[in-house]
Amino acid sequence: MPATDDFTVTPYAVEGNIDYDRLLDEFGADPLTADQKAQFPRPVHQLVRRGVFYAERDVDAFLDAANEGKTHSIVTGRGPSGPMHIGHIIPFYFAKYLQDQTGCLVYIPLSDDEKYLLKDKPLAEIHEYTRENLLDILAVGFDPERTRIVVDTADADVVYPLAVAFAKEVTQSTVNATYGDPENIGLSFYPAVQAAHLLLPQLVEGRHPTLVPIAVDQDPHVRVCRDIAAKQRYDVSKPGALLSKFLPALEGPGKMSSSGGSANIRLSDDRETVFEKIRTHAYSGGQRSVESHREHGGDPEVDVPYQFLYYFFEESDERVERLAREYRDGSLLSGELKEIAATRIADFLDAHQSRREELGPVADEFEQYRLRKSERQTARQQVGYANTRLFEERTTHDN
Ligand code: TRP
Repeated sequence: MPATDDFTVTPYAVEGNIDYDRLLDEFGADPLTADQKAQFPRPVHQLVRRGVFYAERDVDAFLDAANEGKTHSIVTGRGPSGPMHIGHIIPFYFAKYLQDQTGCLVYIPLSDDEKYLLKDKPLAEIHEYTRENLLDILAVGFDPERTRIVVDTADADVVYPLAVAFAKEVTQSTVNATYGDPENIGLSFYPAVQAAHLLLPQLVEGRHPTLVPIAVDQDPHVRVCRDIAAKQRYDVSKPGALLSKFLPALEGPGKMSSSGGSANIRLSDDRETVFEKIRTHAYSGGQRSVESHREHGGDPEVDVPYQFLYYFFEESDERVERLAREYRDGSLLSGELKEIAATRIADFLDAHQSRREELGPVADEFEQYRLRKSERQTARQQVGYANTRLFEERTTHDN
């Protein structure tokens, strides 16, 4: 577990000033190369072009399948521990972008179990966030034919048998070494649940390359899952990973947190709130006075509004480079840069919110993305759990 003097990155805690390169050494993932970036379907997304996704495991197999028109899938999930902010939704928009380009399958697990075990919040509250987060994910507009969403406690008929099968492959000492000593036995078991998420597309659709685009703190889950897959007890190949840096927090370095009590931009924020938060809270790389800024210029590298634009919200490389140039030479003021970033983010949220408002009741919308009955059976059979008849007889009888 990388816990050093100056930063900590685990699935359960991200703190301090993160040295992203050192993290790769510790985790054993590889930097994403220029050649690999060039293999992404065109136009290559800015998150890839600009190195926000900066590291990988087995991305080549996924890209080859994508470029050859063979089955390939993405798994990206959400732990519903609270309202979603802009950093949380970015991987989903990235997955949607790839799905539009290559027709890839997208599997989206919601780990309500994980967040109940981890946070000091009642199950009913986690349930409410699950519904709310689900609406935000549905608003992204995935293709229902090619997208499956599972909620751990609502899809336990599939998730549980798979997790049990995979739990048998992981020792307690591996869990302790990978995550630190878990706080309760639920969190000891949870890595098997996330392994079930990551292998689910292959258990449903047959063996094929899967990619997990996630922030680097989730890499331990991928590692545990890859070790399970490597044993070849099941007909799956190791899922690949595309690892990203964290969207900075409004106040400055570190990840945009939902739990630290600091201001962050929520998906439900209206325009006025976005502008207010950026104007009053966003860390600026500008000088203290206009005169000094005109003379010395600002530093886009540490300027949070600039970083928001660079990470995701300004698609055009030409514009983003011009902003950096003008900021450095002092012709663009920090207040002006804030207005540009706030406008972009508010426009993005307007579009997201209007798609969300157009959705019907959450249960109806969710229905079209749920695993079909035959898919549930196939996945269970793949781990040797074939006794589906018992289920159906009970259900019919109870009705
Ligand atoms: N554990 C993730 C989190 O805390 C959520 C998650 C569950 C996930 N299953 C996943 C993310 C599969 C990526 C892939 O945010």
